[in-house]
Amino acid sequence: MNLPLPSSDAQAHSERLRLCIVQEIAAAGGWLSFSRCMELLLYAPGLGYYTAGAQKFGAAGDFITAPGMSALFGQALARQLAEIMAQSAPVVLEVGAGTGRLAADLLLELERLAALPAQYCILDLSADLRQRQQQTLAAAVPHLLDRVVWLDALPESFSGVVLGNELLDAMPAAIVAWREDGIYERGVALDAAGAFCWQERPATGELLVAASEIGEQCRLPPGFESEISLAARAWAAEWGHRLVAGALLLIDYGFPRREFYHQQRARGTLMCHYRHHAHPDPFFWPGLQDVTVHVDFTAIIAAAHGQGLELLGYTSQGQFLLNCGILDRLAAVPADTPEYIRAAGAANKLLMPHEMGELFKVIAIGRGLAGDAAVPLCGFASGDQSRRL
Ligand SMILES: C[S@@+](CC[C@H](N)C(=O)[O-])C[C@H]1O[C@@H](n2cnc3c(N)ncnc32)[C@H](O)[C@@H]1O
Repeated sequence: MNLPLPSSDAQAHSERLRLCIVQEIAAAGGWLSFSRCMELLLYAPGLGYYTAGAQKFGAAGDFITAPGMSALFGQALARQLAEIMAQSAPVVLEVGAGTGRLAADLLLELERLAALPAQYCILDLSADLRQRQQQTLAAAVPHLLDRVVWLDALPESFSGVVLGNELLDAMPAAIVAWREDGIYERGVALDAAGAFCWQERPATGELLVAASEIGEQCRLPPGFESEISLAARAWAAEWGHRLVAGALLLIDYGFPRREFYHQQRARGTLMCHYRHHAHPDPFFWPGLQDVTVHVDFTAIIAAAHGQGLELLGYTSQGQFLLNCGILDRLAAVPADTPEYIRAAGAANKLLMPHEMGELFKVIAIGRGLAGDAAVPLCGFASGDQSRRL
């Protein structure tokens, strides 16, 4: 691939992570599941893409997420948070808060709506990002900083809103191949030259059960390869034990199962981001690029449902943001100003079907809300697609 070369320091850093993975492959007898490899690529202590100090977000990094495009995203989302908090408890837990930009935009808008949470909790696997979140919030909302709390683990019990933007796609996923003679898990080994290479082993345990079910439901032909994230399912199921009253609000790129495992994606959805180039090679500069998979939203709701949580809504990001009044917030920006032109451009990206509007989805999962169960949450008032899951 003809992509910009990292600095020599970054190359040395990448080499340290590569050696760490090589050692783990050797210790495991010559083969490592891709799921574990992805976990190391992203979260190996001090070395993984998210746990080390790479720039990651924004124009100087590898990718831009919705909060980095415009405050409009958080301003629209705030309406949904306010409604859920009013029906449960005035607490937000943002999981995987990135740069902290979304937290800052949400707090400012919730203040404007007179709906501030008593606590805004943040949980992130990355100590580096925690520092960046602290800086962002100290600069943007110094007067609200006393409401922000950083957690080290999921709370034992929680009421309020759990928010995750592009969280599930960053959780480790296994790669599965449906073959003529059975179902295989694709993993990582070393070739004769010591480079990473793919190797398959028969799938076993929980992964085999999940892959068999998907294979039958979606009638997958031999040769189909795709991902299954047991980690994302387990994370959603965890909330069955922890959520007392409230909702998880998860925003990510992905599909209902039948679209996820569709012939159009017969090689899966694994995607890497390096300096704004998207490509499918997870072994390119380990630790210096993002590695992601799309989300099977049917698996997420099934896992949560199995633990007694309910589906409260599912729709495209575009529809959700429109339902939450993003165009009213855009209209409040003074027209004929550079700020308006920037905001309108960002709204276009967030909403339009060929940009983020359709590929990104919003799912709400919860229990015990005090509102009328027959009245949908405001973000799903129009265009709810729950029946597609
Ligand atoms: C793609 S980034 C998205 C960041 C941010 N939400 C945004 O939209 O810009 C994924 C984030 O999720 C965090 N993360 C992934 N798995 C996590 C987990 N199980 N618990 C907490 N944070 C997690 C990563 O450290 C990273 O900050």
